[in-house]
Amino acid sequence: MQISAILFAYLLGQTVTEARLTVIDVPLSLPKRALLKDVVGYSIEPTWLDDYLQTQLATVLLENISNVTGKPPPIRIGGNTADQTYLRPDQNVTSVAIPAKWGAKFFNITAGWYHTWSNYFPTGTDLVYTLNFGNNQSLWANAVAQAEAAHVAFGPSLKFFELGNEIDHYAGKRWRPYSYNVSQYIPQWRNLSKQIIESPWYQQAEPPPKFQAAVFADPPWVPDQQSGIDDMDIINVTRAGLVDPSMIDNYAIHIYPQSTCDTRRWYRMRLDLLLNHHVVWQNVSQFIPQVAAAEAAGSRLINGETNSISCSGHSGISDTYGAALWAVDYILLQASIGIEKVYFHLGAQSEYSFFTPLSYEYKNESLEAGIRAPYYAHYFLGHIVSVVMGYLVELEI
Ligand SMILES: *[C@@H]1O[C@H](CO)[C@@H](O)[C@H](O)[C@H]1NC(C)=O
Ligand SMILES: *[C@@H]1O[C@H](CO)[C@@H](O)[C@H](O)[C@H]1NC(C)=O
Ligand SMILES: *[C@@H]1O[C@H](CO)[C@@H](O)[C@H](O)[C@H]1NC(C)=O
Ligand SMILES: *[C@@H]1O[C@H](CO)[C@@H](O)[C@H](O)[C@H]1NC(C)=O
Ligand SMILES: *[C@@H]1O[C@H](CO)[C@@H](O)[C@H](O)[C@H]1NC(C)=O
Ligand SMILES: *[C@@H]1O[C@H](CO)[C@@H](O)[C@H](O)[C@H]1NC(C)=O
Ligand SMILES: *[C@@H]1O[C@H](CO)[C@@H](O)[C@H](O)[C@H]1NC(C)=O
Ligand SMILES: *[C@@H]1O[C@H](CO)[C@@H](O)[C@H](O)[C@H]1NC(C)=O
Ligand SMILES: *[C@@H]1O[C@H](CO)[C@@H](O)[C@H](O)[C@H]1NC(C)=O
Ligand SMILES: *[C@@H]1O[C@H](CO)[C@@H](O)[C@H](O)[C@H]1NC(C)=O
Repeated sequence: MQISAILFAYLLGQTVTEARLTVIDVPLSLPKRALLKDVVGYSIEPTWLDDYLQTQLATVLLENISNVTGKPPPIRIGGNTADQTYLRPDQNVTSVAIPAKWGAKFFNITAGWYHTWSNYFPTGTDLVYTLNFGNNQSLWANAVAQAEAAHVAFGPSLKFFELGNEIDHYAGKRWRPYSYNVSQYIPQWRNLSKQIIESPWYQQAEPPPKFQAAVFADPPWVPDQQSGIDDMDIINVTRAGLVDPSMIDNYAIHIYPQSTCDTRRWYRMRLDLLLNHHVVWQNVSQFIPQVAAAEAAGSRLINGETNSISCSGHSGISDTYGAALWAVDYILLQASIGIEKVYFHLGAQSEYSFFTPLSYEYKNESLEAGIRAPYYAHYFLGHIVSVVMGYLVELEI
């Protein structure tokens, strides 16, 4: 089969005669992996969601993609502060970050908070919500109440629950003992998920939300990017028995190629390394055995939270045209190994955000609200998926 640059000329809205024709040989024997319309989604940090809700920017940008692809990008509300979220029916504000949004120790909400975003995202948006699994007081009574309140607000738009965020960092945060491993995690995961499934609202839901399990952060092959010693990955967790395709739609991992979180990694931040295709392949290919483990468990692997540089990104790398080029390569490579969805993390004052709802002061600079370069990677891929879909249908592949 030959796919020519006609495709790309079409994308650019040019006529074929204006385009330079490049012929690319594509072997028919290549393994076939899905390139979904909604391959790109967003993950929004709970404490920063309120800022996004104050303007229409996110709705318009998501609708714009949806108008191109025919399906709105999926949205996950989760991140570190998911495990610090408490449902407090008694409080007089719908949400409050304590002591502040940066460095929040608690994010206290009422059930009304869920209603503040139940109609914000474009119609048809699939939602993923991360419950507080970190706090296990009274057998996760807080998480059980959160699950019901989220269901009441979102109904069938709520596709998946995550039980906690980055479980392999719990020991480091002292939320679990230093020895915390998959054999301790699995009975806890089963206890909370069973309580949810046995709830009357769940039994009556049509269809009920399923689960996005695991939610691990440490890259399997990069020891010095790991937060501590543990045995958590998809191979080990499925081998230890967290397998249930009727409930577990997928397993989630997180990837951040670079980081500002510590000095060692700070000095390794470089745009040329981010962009280097061989580096991207190193970062992504370590998940091939993880995809295989998820599929052997009758499920799938997704990248539930990612961006260029962890701990909020770095201006000059994360917000450049180069980062947009990186994002295209990074997303397509993941799709090619079977990671069907990639959720880019957003915070209202994070340097890696693809779009920023409100202007703010940062390191003595006034940063304006609006679109950053990597959003155009998403827009570009929106056109790719819509054209490739049409093209494959034409060829009846
Ligand atoms: C999406 O398409 C609808 C219907 O054509 C249109 O009304 C709306 O303005 C479009 N949205 C954006 C953000 O372009
Ligand atoms: C998306 O937004 C761009 C910029 O405003 C606009 O030119 C384009 O028509 C929009 N596309 C769709 C499909 O809504
Ligand atoms: C809301 O509760 C806080 C903390 O209990 C209290 O300080 C504040 O005065 C209350 N505000 C209103 C409007 O009742
Ligand atoms: C926030 O919730 C936590 C957990 O329920 C509680 O201990 C704390 O007092 C709450 N803070 C405020 C200011 O309501
Ligand atoms: C809650 O976490 C503590 C601290 O790690 C642990 O000792 C306890 O067994 C856990 N409770 C449940 C119900 O898992
Ligand atoms: C997991 O932790 C438990 C409790 O500390 C321990 O008994 C068990 O041997 C550990 N499992 C593995 C595979 O290390
Ligand atoms: C959760 O664990 C507690 C304590 O071990 C137990 O009493 C309860 O029955 C468990 N609940 C479910 C639904 O598994
Ligand atoms: C999987 O578990 C084994 C032993 O239980 C451990 O040596 C290995 O490091 C674990 N894998 C990961 C990626 O944590
Ligand atoms: C990505 O690859 C680069 C180059 O090998 C490496 O420095 C970095 O730690 C990798 N990051 C992850 C998360 O794999
Ligand atoms: C911001 O400006 C102040 C006053 O000029 C200076 O002391 C401080 O170092 C600057 N901060 C940064 C991050 O540049």
